[in-house]
Amino acid sequence: MIAPPSPARTRLVPLNETHAAALQSVCEACHDFYRETTGLPPGPAETENFLADVPPHGDRSQKRVWVIFHQTTLIGIVDCAFGHPAPGDFWIGLLLLHPDWRGQGLGGDIVRALVAYARDHAAPRIGIGVKADYRAAQLFWRGHGFVPMARQISMLPGLGPTGFDVMQLAVNDRAQM
Ligand SMILES: CC(C)(COP(=O)(O)OP(=O)(O)OC[C@H]1O[C@@H](n2cnc3c(N)ncnc32)[C@H](O)[C@@H]1OP(=O)(O)O)[C@@H](O)C(=O)NCCC(=O)NCCS
Repeated sequence: MIAPPSPARTRLVPLNETHAAALQSVCEACHDFYRETTGLPPGPAETENFLADVPPHGDRSQKRVWVIFHQTTLIGIVDCAFGHPAPGDFWIGLLLLHPDWRGQGLGGDIVRALVAYARDHAAPRIGIGVKADYRAAQLFWRGHGFVPMARQISMLPGLGPTGFDVMQLAVNDRAQM
């Protein structure tokens, strides 16, 4: 098995059904984030959603979904895929930490580990879509060197037409921004 990314202070483990109860309570604790980015609260079976979700290009084999452990406590989730928006690129669909574990540098550690993982897998770029008016997330990703490349409008059930910035970070020398 290919090793997951290895952040300094947390452990990433492939998501499976045994994580369902703990992950659901993390998602419910993050209701502000769900409201902010989707206009809706978390659903009643978020683990099933993460497992069933298909990457934008439709190739499930390129999905990488890890839960985040601090020692024995499940504190968050990272949902990624290779091959979006361009072949080989590494796309971060979601990085989410329980509110009690934010602001201590753990998210930054995880981003650095994801960058190293993408680089080791020869991805030219890492991408993420960040809601255009979500200032905290914009600052977080810009602080890690991500640059907005394009604005996209998505139709969200809870919010209607919503602007997202596609942000990218070049991680291999051959990448052209
Ligand atoms: C974004 C997130 C993963 C960052 O993880 P973290 O461990 O809190 O981040 P770090 O401690 O490494 O860095 C803190 C920085 O994150 C940013 N940040 C973004 N959202 C934040 C939040 N809700 N709470 C605290 N910091 C947040 C701040 O800019 C902060 O910078 P500062 O230290 O100068 O105030 C985490 O805060 C989170 O899960 N937020 C909600 C989900 C989200 O917004 N995900 C990103 C969009 S996919």
